[in-house]
Amino acid sequence: MEPMAKQRRPEVFVTRQIADTAIAHLAMRASVELWEAELPPPEDELAKRLATVDGILSMVTDRLDAAALANAPNLRVISNLAVGVDNIDLAAATKRGIAVGHTPGVLTETTADLAFALLMATARRVVEADRYVRGGRWQAWGPRILLGRDVWGATLGIIGWGAIGQAVARRAAGFGMRVLFTSRRPPASAVVGMRVELDELLRSADFVSIHVALTDQTRHLIGERELALMKRGAILINTARGPIVDQRALADALASGHLGGVGLDVTEVEPIDASDPLLSIPNVVITPHIGSASHATRAKMAEIAVDSILAVFEGRMPPFCANPEVKLAARRV
Ligand code: GLV
Repeated sequence: MEPMAKQRRPEVFVTRQIADTAIAHLAMRASVELWEAELPPPEDELAKRLATVDGILSMVTDRLDAAALANAPNLRVISNLAVGVDNIDLAAATKRGIAVGHTPGVLTETTADLAFALLMATARRVVEADRYVRGGRWQAWGPRILLGRDVWGATLGIIGWGAIGQAVARRAAGFGMRVLFTSRRPPASAVVGMRVELDELLRSADFVSIHVALTDQTRHLIGERELALMKRGAILINTARGPIVDQRALADALASGHLGGVGLDVTEVEPIDASDPLLSIPNVVITPHIGSASHATRAKMAEIAVDSILAVFEGRMPPFCANPEVKLAARRV
């Protein structure tokens, strides 16, 4: 009798250290190649792994464009540890029958927390105040030191009424803020806000927070013209993607005193260059793209990312698929 053909164990490249439990789960079904370094795999290393693997568990720092995917003959699934998938050429993946999984939902509240933290930090100059104390400048209580802006009672403009935008709006309601928002479609219900056009939002808001995905339509959505429309002294928060804002125009709007402050979790180029003019402006708070970075949320994201890979290996779609139109290749590994 012919011996049964032994099924090949699928290979998966995991491009950074993620929760150990998720890796262990993946390793039960696949051969895992884990990139253990602190920094992302360089492009040539990524290309080398893509040449052989069946799946990749990728990060926002991994560029998976059409050229990279053209040299990934066995690749069946990309599973991005993020809600955003702008690092992946979705059309190229779909054309090649590669399913793209991502991790929406679990990171909504955590990311909204960070957006609100940046809003509070810039409004009340928390980071500047901390530097003031550490710099030995706190000599006495003063009636005019470090005056900021009230959050309560102010108007918040939310650009993008997706899950994260709405989660920020709920927080704003708790602070007694008036909420305006932009949305491509009329929302089913908007108990905590009022839908307006972008220009009106920019003209009316004391704080503007960005919550749209990066696409060809949203690249530099906020440029010189839009910044000029904002109220004098207004504060801009961006926890979405850096290239949505024209960063040079932003630095100019701050340097001229037109904007009162900026809170960014994302920058046009990441990491931001140490000589970038934004870094020398006092009321600019920049965090290193940590919107979803809580222990609990990152662990949940890792589990979903692993589930996406295993689903595709079993011939199913990922639980959250960014290219649902993809026709999965019939081959099961
Ligand atoms: C992070 O930036 C994400 O898209 O989840």
